[in-house]
Amino acid sequence: MVKEKRILVTGGAGFLGSHLCEKLLKMGHEVTCLDNFYTGTKKNIESLSSFPNFRFIEHDICLPFDIEVDEIYNLGCPASPIHYQACPVQTTKTNIFGAMHVLDLARKYHAKVLQASTSEVYGDPEIHPQQELYWGNVNPIGYRSCYDEGKRCAETLFFDYHRQYGIKIKIARIFNTYGPRMLPNDGRVVSNFIVQALQNEPITIYGQGLQTRSFCYVDDLIEGLILLMATQDDVTGPINLGNPTEFSIIELAERILSLTASSSSLSFKPLPSDDPRKRKPDISLAQSTLNWTPTTHLDAGLRSTIHYFSSSLDPSCST
Ligand SMILES: NC(=O)c1ccc[n+]([C@@H]2O[C@H](COP(=O)([O-])OP(=O)(O)OC[C@H]3O[C@@H](n4cnc5c(N)ncnc54)[C@H](O)[C@@H]3O)[C@@H](O)[C@H]2O)c1
Repeated sequence: MVKEKRILVTGGAGFLGSHLCEKLLKMGHEVTCLDNFYTGTKKNIESLSSFPNFRFIEHDICLPFDIEVDEIYNLGCPASPIHYQACPVQTTKTNIFGAMHVLDLARKYHAKVLQASTSEVYGDPEIHPQQELYWGNVNPIGYRSCYDEGKRCAETLFFDYHRQYGIKIKIARIFNTYGPRMLPNDGRVVSNFIVQALQNEPITIYGQGLQTRSFCYVDDLIEGLILLMATQDDVTGPINLGNPTEFSIIELAERILSLTASSSSLSFKPLPSDDPRKRKPDISLAQSTLNWTPTTHLDAGLRSTIHYFSSSLDPSCST
C-alpha cells in the first residue's frame, strides 16, 4: 500500500503532466495541478475532476505560489519549438523563475522536487549516444536557446539549491516522448506526421529525413519519472529517460503512413537552424538506478496515438 502524499505537478494540464497527474491519482495520492494553459488544455484534465483528491490551480509559475506539499514535479514549460519560440522571453522566465519558485517551495516544506529537464541540454551532440556526463554542445544565442539554455540554467539552480540548502532534488533528462494528448498543431514530429497522414496531406520532412531520433511512449516515461522521485535522497540525477531504439525520420514517416493507410506523399523542406542531427539516450544509468527500461514498441505506441488523434481531430478532416 502506497502512503498517500500531497503532490504538486506544475504544467499538469499539458501532454506529459496530465498523464502524470492521472497516474499519481490512481496510485491514491492527493494531486494539485498548477498550469497557466499556455499549451495545456482543460480537456486534458477534464477526466481528472472525478478524482476527489484532484485540485487545479490556474497560475503562472513565473510568479511565486504557496502550496503545502511533500513532492513537486516541475513540468511547467512549453516543450515544442513552435510554442517555446513564440515568446522566447517568457520561455526563459518560465524556466528560471519557475525553477526558483518550486525550489523555494521545496525549501519551505522540506519537499522533494523533480525537474523535467531535456535532452536539449546536450544541444547538437558530438558524442552518440548521449550519457549524463556529457556537457553538451549548445548554441547560447540561437532560436532554441531560450529553451536549451533555460533548461540548463534550471539544472544549475537545482544543484545550487541542493548544495547550498540541502534541497532533495531529482533531475530527469527527458528524450522525445509521444502519445495521446499531444497538441495536433505543435510541430512535434510524431503528432505532425500523424495529423498529416490522417488528413492525407503531404508529410513534411526537414532535410533528407536521415536525421535519427528515439521515441519514448508516454506511459514508459511517466513510470520512469515516478521511479526517479521514489529513489533515496542521494540520487539526484541527472538521469536520461527515453527510448534508445533509433529510427530515422523517414522510417517514422513510413511507419505512420502504413499504420494509417494514408495516401499522403512526402514533402521535403530545409532543415531548421540548430536542428540536432542525432539524438539517442544512453539509459544505462536509469537501468541500473531505477531498474527502468521502456517496454512499449513503437508500433503499439503509434497505434494508440493514431487512435487518439483520429477520434479527437475534426471528423471532416480525418480519413
Ligand atoms: N514531451 C517531450 O518529448 C519532452 C522532452 C523533453 C522534456 N520535456 C519537458 O517535459 C515538460 C512537459 O512537456 P510536455 O511535452 O508535456 O509539454 P506541454 O507543452 O504539453 O506541457 C507544458 C505545460 O506547462 C504549462 N506551462 C507553460 N508555461 C507555464 C507557466 N509559466 N506557468 C504554468 N504553467 C506553464 C503549459 O500550459 C502546459 O500545460 C516540459 O518541461 C518539457 O520541457 C518534454
